[in-house]
Amino acid sequence: MQQPLIIQGGTPLRGELRVNPAKNAALPILVGSLLTREPVTLEEVPRLRDIEVLLELLAHLGTRYAWEGRTLHLHTPEITRTQAPYELVSKMRASFIVLGALLAREGEGEVSMPGGCAFGPRPVDLHIKALRDLGVEIHEESGTFTARRAGWPEGEVVFDRPTVGGTEQVMLAAALGPTEVTIVNAALEPEIVDFANFLQMLGVQIEGAGTAKMTIRGADALGGGRYRIIPDRIEAGTYLLAVAATRGEVLLEGARPEHMDALLSKLKNAGHTVVTGTDWVRLKSTANPEPFDVDAREYPGFPTDLQPPVTAYLATVPGVSLVRDLVYPDRFTHVGELARLGAELHLKERVLAVHGRGLTGARIKAFDIRGGGAMVIAALAAEGETVIEGMQHVGRGYEDLEDRLRQLGAVVYGEPVRLEQAAD
Ligand code: EPU
Repeated sequence: MQQPLIIQGGTPLRGELRVNPAKNAALPILVGSLLTREPVTLEEVPRLRDIEVLLELLAHLGTRYAWEGRTLHLHTPEITRTQAPYELVSKMRASFIVLGALLAREGEGEVSMPGGCAFGPRPVDLHIKALRDLGVEIHEESGTFTARRAGWPEGEVVFDRPTVGGTEQVMLAAALGPTEVTIVNAALEPEIVDFANFLQMLGVQIEGAGTAKMTIRGADALGGGRYRIIPDRIEAGTYLLAVAATRGEVLLEGARPEHMDALLSKLKNAGHTVVTGTDWVRLKSTANPEPFDVDAREYPGFPTDLQPPVTAYLATVPGVSLVRDLVYPDRFTHVGELARLGAELHLKERVLAVHGRGLTGARIKAFDIRGGGAMVIAALAAEGETVIEGMQHVGRGYEDLEDRLRQLGAVVYGEPVRLEQAAD
């Protein structure tokens, strides 16, 4: 188990930071490498726990891979197994989409119910319905889905609601073969567009990525190539909120402001100075920001993955802010922990009222990636020392967190190992 993180809060963060590549773009792209017999090289892959877990699963299915710094070489000349076992899939929800890739390449696949961040119900019914609508036969028994296709997936999928993973699942299943698949109410996230760009590089024909109607025309066989993953808008947003919570100043290099409109406009309206270029964002905090309300929703709305971080930020802003999450209405595991730091939060009918005020250090715990991001932001803003447990969750999504916070002047250290603990 990872040791707790100790943060001596109350210091404004200042400095420059280069944004890391996007975890949620890298994950489907790694799975997409299963579609081709040819080698694929990915530049700028984040060195994160979730990536390692997925690589373990890909290796189990037949992928050979090698790291060269942050460049990842992947090669799957043959799929050696079509079963994705519980031990590997249960660690991370994103691994469920290997089903689409296995169906495309081998015509069959078996995948356990996925695991992942436990912040409320996260079903896979939309994935299953979509694949069935395309003619795939799927059976579920004891938490394992077995899928087989007679011909090639074909036709139209209409999602009841946009789903990032469901859209990726269909894109994968439709990438090979002589047929055409249309997705209506597709997810619009930049990570979907990045994934579509990657698949197009392999030879899949895709129209309408980033719009609600996307058409995928499969190819007989796909090629390989070299691809660079987009910067992580959620990581970038988390650091902006950390800087704003401590009333600091930062230049985020490599950030893509066009992916971050919802957050940047909130920060500007709150009174912070936000200046952007094509690939950078500069934030200079005001000492007296205004509170604001947040409705987290699908892209281009305010991202649900920044809902816990923005809640932590709002807990430092005097006044009342109302927060709702329309994607995951129960994504509030961070609320009880923020209260330990002195935040006044009232959750009623899935609306969180945040009464901002000064926070003070305490011992708290992260339960999932973005809830952990919220803990870190609140701890940085709080006066005194905060000890954060559960850092293994945070490491799934934020690369080199400690070093990057130090780079911005934060006082951060791991808990000293006590002698009696070190004895064995
Ligand atoms: N949904 C269903 N049935 C399904 C699929 C989704 O009801 O079969 C619901 C979900 O419960 C949720 C909504 O649809 O209410 C949208 O979920 P979506 O499928 O879009 O989420 P996801 O693909 O499982 C990705 C990210 C999450 C992020 C969500 C929403 C990856 C690997 N994960 O999950 O990121 O919160 O989209 O934007 O891309 C994170 O990075 O910490 C994280 C959890």
